[in-house]
Amino acid sequence: MHRGMISGILGALAAAFIFFCQKGPDQEQLISASRKVTDSYMGELKMALSSAISQSGVVGAVDVCSELAPEVARKYSSADGWEVRRVSRKFRNAHNAPDSFESQGLEILSAKAQGDDEYYTWDIQDGQRAFRYLRTIRMAVLCVNCHGDAAAFSPELRQVLSTKYPNDNATGFEVGDFRGAFSIKINWPQGKAGVDSINHSL
Ligand code: HEC
Repeated sequence: MHRGMISGILGALAAAFIFFCQKGPDQEQLISASRKVTDSYMGELKMALSSAISQSGVVGAVDVCSELAPEVARKYSSADGWEVRRVSRKFRNAHNAPDSFESQGLEILSAKAQGDDEYYTWDIQDGQRAFRYLRTIRMAVLCVNCHGDAAAFSPELRQVLSTKYPNDNATGFEVGDFRGAFSIKINWPQGKAGVDSINHSL
């Protein structure tokens, strides 16, 4: 074997060894920041949805939801290295379709009949290390307005949803059903400052 190649391989092995032996970040800190972000994301959405419904009715609230949810997600993704979104296997907007980690997590979380659960792991893709976190979203009474039995929706609501989301899969849910998950990706170490500030502020 060529000398340069051997030392190249040894160098790569040494780099991998050093990488895995470095003291990892404190996982509890990452979990606690992820919980805080998903708690406030859910709180903010529920509040905005119920006030929009009482002000402009369910049909009027559809726009609020489609604009607000991604806006709130962007706000929580503003920390360096952070990506926050909602995912579901039965999605209304294809933009919220799961990637392979999220699909696997949704499978595991959805197998539980009830409760607020989480699923997390470390991931390396193209040399980028990331902490991946999912947290169950269940159907509340409020949600049935737009994700319940479509036959019970007003004709106006059906019209708005089918125009905006012709491939809508997100109806037919009942209160308590598994609806999907919040998904957080914290690239490491870029996301560290965000973890620290969220743990101190929220
Ligand atoms: C006023 C109607 C309305 C209400 C009420 C509503 N949603 Fe939605 N929901 C939507 C719309 C519209 C979208 C698509 C948003 C987008 O375009 O990203 C959506 C998307 C979602 C998604 C992302 C996955 C997907 O299907 O695209 C989840 C998860 C979700 N809703 C859960 C809930 C939960 C839980 C509640 C109750 C707390 C709720 N929704 C209440 C209209 C509503």
